[in-house]
Amino acid sequence: MRLSVFGCGNMGSAVVRAIRENEPALEILTYSPSGSSAQKLAKAVKGFQQGQIKSMFPCDVALLAMKPQQLETFIDQTAELFTPQTVIVSLLAGVDIATLQSKLNSDQVLRLMPNTPTLVGKGIITYAASSEMKRDSLSKILSWLTSSAKIFKMKDEDQLNRTMGVSASGPGLLFELALLFYKKLMADGLTDKDARLMVAELFAGSGELMLGSVESFEELRNNVTSKGGVTEASLQVLSSNNQFASLIDQALEANYRRSQELLDK
Ligand SMILES: NC(=O)c1ccc[n+]([C@@H]2O[C@H](COP(=O)([O-])OP(=O)(O)OC[C@H]3O[C@@H](n4cnc5c(N)ncnc54)[C@H](OP(=O)(O)O)[C@@H]3O)[C@@H](O)[C@H]2O)c1
Repeated sequence: MRLSVFGCGNMGSAVVRAIRENEPALEILTYSPSGSSAQKLAKAVKGFQQGQIKSMFPCDVALLAMKPQQLETFIDQTAELFTPQTVIVSLLAGVDIATLQSKLNSDQVLRLMPNTPTLVGKGIITYAASSEMKRDSLSKILSWLTSSAKIFKMKDEDQLNRTMGVSASGPGLLFELALLFYKKLMADGLTDKDARLMVAELFAGSGELMLGSVESFEELRNNVTSKGGVTEASLQVLSSNNQFASLIDQALEANYRRSQELLDK
């Protein structure tokens, strides 16, 4: 079986490295316009970098991992090379299944929405597939990823787009919070090394606690919040006028709005 990978940046690499861990026998071809990211990925996964996009065909599975704004050039170069048997796996935010079906010569489309922790085997991947996608192809491709990410089936593409703010962009939001904590610790005189480690352990430990506990997130929060105590003093600032919750709502809404704008382009 041959997997051709178009776009070998952050996300393409994370997903293909995860696939390789599960599928040592899969033939992997990589392509990127500059060649350098494709070469690096090919070396990491024992794949074969191709200098010409045409040499990526025929393939059983085409993984699209370029930026949405780079898709048009890709379609111009490859549309005629796709066959109805090619399964299209797209990581692109803001490009829907119908668009890919209409521009490329295959109805079998799987949209995967991974996040960067997939790189360390702790990812989240949400997915939605076209009704034409064959069940055995779908389960095969998902099985390539199960050891690197928890996989969630979305009821439709709209749910995939609506949840992307948490599933795919969530790490970005958490890293922003991590950066603010880190800056505070630095201002309090910690070394860079200690501040970084403390914040990373804070997130990892809290994550482990959530995963290992039967208590709700609210109960876990309450467990660290004594009446009249210091955590309560901090939480009161965040919850005053519901401002923190409202800010998070707005951030997640903006994410969905942007995915719709990209779809409309
Ligand atoms: N980052 C995330 O957390 C995340 C999460 C979910 C989904 N996604 C989706 O993943 C996709 C890739 O994001 P990224 O962060 O990995 O981007 P990235 O690091 O910028 O990588 C983009 C890759 O696409 C290649 N490329 C550019 N034009 C191309 C073309 N015409 N044909 C084939 N390949 C082309 C680039 O090649 P060069 O190296 O030659 O420029 C590069 O290897 C995006 O569509 C994004 O929506 C990202």
